[in-house]
Amino acid sequence: MILVTGACGRVGSRVAEILADKEIPFRAMSRTPDKLRKSEIVDVIYGDFEDPKSLDKAFDGVKTALVISGKAMPGKRCFTHKIAFDAAKRAGVEHIIYLSLLGSSANSVYGYCRDHYESERFLAETGISFTSLRNAFYLDMLFEKFGIDGILRGPAADGKGAFITREDVSQVAAAALLNPPIGVVEITGPEALGLKDIAERFSHLIGRKLDYDAETIDVARSRMQGALNDEWKRELEIEWFDAIAQGEQLPVNGNFKAMTGLEPYSIEQYFEEFPHVFDILRTRRAA
Ligand SMILES: NC(=O)c1ccc[n+]([C@@H]2O[C@H](COP(=O)([O-])OP(=O)(O)OC[C@H]3O[C@@H](n4cnc5c(N)ncnc54)[C@H](OP(=O)(O)O)[C@@H]3O)[C@@H](O)[C@H]2O)c1
Repeated sequence: MILVTGACGRVGSRVAEILADKEIPFRAMSRTPDKLRKSEIVDVIYGDFEDPKSLDKAFDGVKTALVISGKAMPGKRCFTHKIAFDAAKRAGVEHIIYLSLLGSSANSVYGYCRDHYESERFLAETGISFTSLRNAFYLDMLFEKFGIDGILRGPAADGKGAFITREDVSQVAAAALLNPPIGVVEITGPEALGLKDIAERFSHLIGRKLDYDAETIDVARSRMQGALNDEWKRELEIEWFDAIAQGEQLPVNGNFKAMTGLEPYSIEQYFEEFPHVFDILRTRRAA
């Protein structure tokens, strides 16, 4: 049996769709299972990383599981993943696919990269064979980072990232579920992109002038004082840009194609097939 956690999330629900299209039976785990549809091949179950008993039920009879990283403060989130990995161990799971992040290391400037590194250590400690997909930053994350004035602000300097689309992340996760474990693998999009270049290419596609303003870390920090209430969230946002400035979101590699047989989407191909995901860039404007 295959288990997909986070089945109501964007990656989890897309992975579920890909498996269902291939008519592969699986169990979908969610904190809100009522939102999911059961079928002859899809079993639905409640599960929360913070509720070990629910995980014992969710992992029961499972041989391969996709553990989609959850949402919590860096440094705390890895312990919720540990609860899931330990439950998988008790249930005799043979292969865990974990959704990690490119640049994961103990020394990363980005809190979530340090947290993913800790999660990977907890996973390795269980002795379960694993595939840890260190996905580059999602291209889709950028859509939400442009201000209502069409400016993307942040301290990424002129750094570049090997951004990958959320669709491709879902495709590679589904492929990993159907193949043997390969350990840690870095997954990137097709090219190294600077934020100025991205703003220009988005502008061209959506017909609206967008731009990138490379702030210093101090300027970014004072701007965010009013925007985000929690200090850790503000710092995390700054660190996201800084990881790009420091070159932690490189280099581009061919692992996506090797695992899926597909070419990763370029910005233009993604727009052509999934134009609606760019909508926020068109609609979020100053009044
Ligand atoms: N590389 C990147 O740039 C990047 C960007 C964004 C996110 N990510 C990571 O990739 C993951 C998937 O992305 P996404 O876009 O699909 O995010 P998403 O739509 O926010 O979905 C994340 C899902 O994680 C599940 N989750 C959260 N807390 C949980 C908990 N305590 N126990 C069990 N499941 C929990 C939830 O599933 P249910 O609602 O079904 O319970 C949630 O819907 C994110 O959670 C994040 O860790 C990476």
